[in-house]
Amino acid sequence: MQYNVCVVGLGYVGLPVALRAAEKGHAVYGFDINEERVKNLSEQSFTSKDIDVQKQIDIYGKKITYSTNPDIIKNANVVIVCVPTPVNKDRKPNLNPLKAACTTINNHRGAGTLIIIESTIFPGTVEEVLKPLFTGNPGQDYFLAHCPERIDIGNKDFTLATIPRVVGGITEECAEKAEAFYKTIIDAPITILQSIKAVETTKIVENTFRDVNIALVNELARSFDNMNIDMKEVLKGAATKPFAFLAHYPGCGVGGHCIAIDPYYLIERSEANGFHHRFLKMARQINEEMPLYTIMRAEEALMKRGKTINNTQIAVLGLAYKAEIDDMRESPALKIIQHLKERGATINIYDPYIPQQSTTPTLQEALQQSDCIIIATDHKEFKAITPQQLKQAHVSIVIDGRNCLNKKQFTNAGIIYRGIGS
Ligand SMILES: NC(=O)c1ccc[n+]([C@@H]2O[C@H](COP(=O)([O-])OP(=O)(O)OC[C@H]3O[C@@H](n4cnc5c(N)ncnc54)[C@H](O)[C@@H]3O)[C@@H](O)[C@H]2O)c1
Repeated sequence: MQYNVCVVGLGYVGLPVALRAAEKGHAVYGFDINEERVKNLSEQSFTSKDIDVQKQIDIYGKKITYSTNPDIIKNANVVIVCVPTPVNKDRKPNLNPLKAACTTINNHRGAGTLIIIESTIFPGTVEEVLKPLFTGNPGQDYFLAHCPERIDIGNKDFTLATIPRVVGGITEECAEKAEAFYKTIIDAPITILQSIKAVETTKIVENTFRDVNIALVNELARSFDNMNIDMKEVLKGAATKPFAFLAHYPGCGVGGHCIAIDPYYLIERSEANGFHHRFLKMARQINEEMPLYTIMRAEEALMKRGKTINNTQIAVLGLAYKAEIDDMRESPALKIIQHLKERGATINIYDPYIPQQSTTPTLQEALQQSDCIIIATDHKEFKAITPQQLKQAHVSIVIDGRNCLNKKQFTNAGIIYRGIGS
């Protein structure tokens, strides 16, 4: 079946969804409040650092009608909502973009439109917060469903088209309609859950699972650094067990719009319902402390060279929260830079994916200007750094926040190497 689809919010999630719908032959409209983004997409001057998204843009980008005018929504019989769901400074969920988007959709939708929320939300959001924003009878005048997005930006093995999905609706028919639509764009199983609350919670639980497991290895890494046990080797060993162990890896912090945020959605929601999540809060705290721990590793290493952070030239390599992408939301690199600034370092920042925020145009220059480097993102370019390269640039200390270099090679070359648990 061919649908008229309007994607609301054309960011990291929404644009790939719109492109995929266009690929599958639907008539696609894209609505966003960001004028510059809409202009660039319309003029086909928008580029993505993700090669696969760029390929999709090149082929299907021109088939989509983009606009900042919400009137465009009335063309659609399926509206997919992919707007941000951030937290405020106090770590409380901020549903304002989502509420604004739903109000706009309600004011401009045609009769019988299926509205699907893909944004990540806390349990109860659709029923209690969003449904009241829509006028008319659900299941008659409009259909409302939730299908959380699971895309892992930059992941070549699992893509939007091949990741299984879970769906729920405020009525059975809403869920079935959403399932029927996703069957046209997803080549993987789609599972309907009985309650929309279970669907909302599924997504949050998936990301909370990641957060607490990363917190566990981060805590172990800090303990093992004290005992001179190499966490990398321990994980290499533990990962050989073919059941009941799932390797997670320590690092200088957890970033991005999902794992670093979603647990707060559950923590807050549970708190409002009288339950206090000690474990989840502690995991967040441990992961949020990792940038500072990375600084502590640098302080200790510098001391060995008779230096302090104050007045030392330090290169921060990587701004993105993970490898080969340009997204720096909640990135630990930002906290590392802040800590370095507070301690009086001279900082040289380089990220090949984010040149506009880099203070140094090339890796080579960043190395040449620095005594110490901190790898905050394991981009391929940084994983290829050699001891010879550092020696030539007179860099004598490596703080490997992603454990992506070979410790032995650097140590053998007389360079002080500190990883996280390595
Ligand atoms: N980024 C990821 O890897 C990822 C993965 C899975 C799920 N999610 C979830 O998907 C949702 C979107 O995340 P994202 O990373 O794509 O965000 P994003 O910031 O990249 O994109 C959101 C877009 O929505 C637009 N927007 C904001 N308010 C709007 C409104 N009222 N009307 C129309 N457009 C509006 C913004 O201008 C922006 O272009 C979030 O809930 C996030 O948690 C993200």
